[in-house]
Amino acid sequence: MEQINYIDIFEIKKMLKGSFAGKNLYYEEKVDSTNTLARDLAAKGVKNGSVVIADYQEKGRGRNGKFWTSPCGCNIYMSIILRPKFTPETAQGMTILAAVSVADAIVEVASLQPQIKWPNDILIGSKKVSGILTEMSTQNMSIEYMVVGIGMNVNMPEKYMDAHIKNIATSLLIESEKTNGSSALIDRNRLIASILNKFDKYYEMFLSTGLSSVLGYYQKYFGMMGKVISINVENRKVEGQVVGIDSKGALLLKTGENELEKIISGEIYF
Ligand code: BTN
Repeated sequence: MEQINYIDIFEIKKMLKGSFAGKNLYYEEKVDSTNTLARDLAAKGVKNGSVVIADYQEKGRGRNGKFWTSPCGCNIYMSIILRPKFTPETAQGMTILAAVSVADAIVEVASLQPQIKWPNDILIGSKKVSGILTEMSTQNMSIEYMVVGIGMNVNMPEKYMDAHIKNIATSLLIESEKTNGSSALIDRNRLIASILNKFDKYYEMFLSTGLSSVLGYYQKYFGMMGKVISINVENRKVEGQVVGIDSKGALLLKTGENELEKIISGEIYF
């Protein structure tokens, strides 16, 4: 019989150290998408920092309208609701915050070495283990609420992966078997608590000193520096060498001898 590591909200609550992310936790066994449920809850007025967690998503959403494979009993699907006072342009920083929080949690709980592919893919080796979908609702140029959705492949065996993602996706368990020789299931409760504790820490840092202090932590995992890449920006292909990330979280590409291009990832507006 296959083993399962169950999500236990009480366990998670016991491990939360911060005062903000996860103070209110909503758990559902099955949802369409935690981002959609979080959006509905946010529209009804739930508190800043509330978190929605599910064990299974029927219609998990990835970036650019893609489907996010979300089998039951093995992964993390969670969405953090924010009601920030900053402007929509500053919101890009939340994806950066979430990416560092996820990477830190992977090191802490699974003893693996992740890398961040700008802005929001977390990889182990060359394969994706986690992704972030940040969405927001704005009114009169200010943010009504934001939803930071985090999906992480934790104990998902290869056989659960759809054919089209097998070559590009992995899970912490698969990587742990390869790297640490361990086939023990990874504790999703510890991972969730760790992500939320880190997010709490970085959010506070962001509010008091801005994104640049968090970027210092992001750089530790940033695996793209110096690489020549091509990227599609609004139906335009931009090629260049990655030279850094600016203080707002935009990717800086050297596209010619004296030419620098700033790439800002698009956000989805409800
Ligand atoms: C990506 O394409 O990399 C982003 C994937 C984000 C998936 C997560 S799972 C929890 C939350 N709910 C969703 O429907 N999507 C995000």
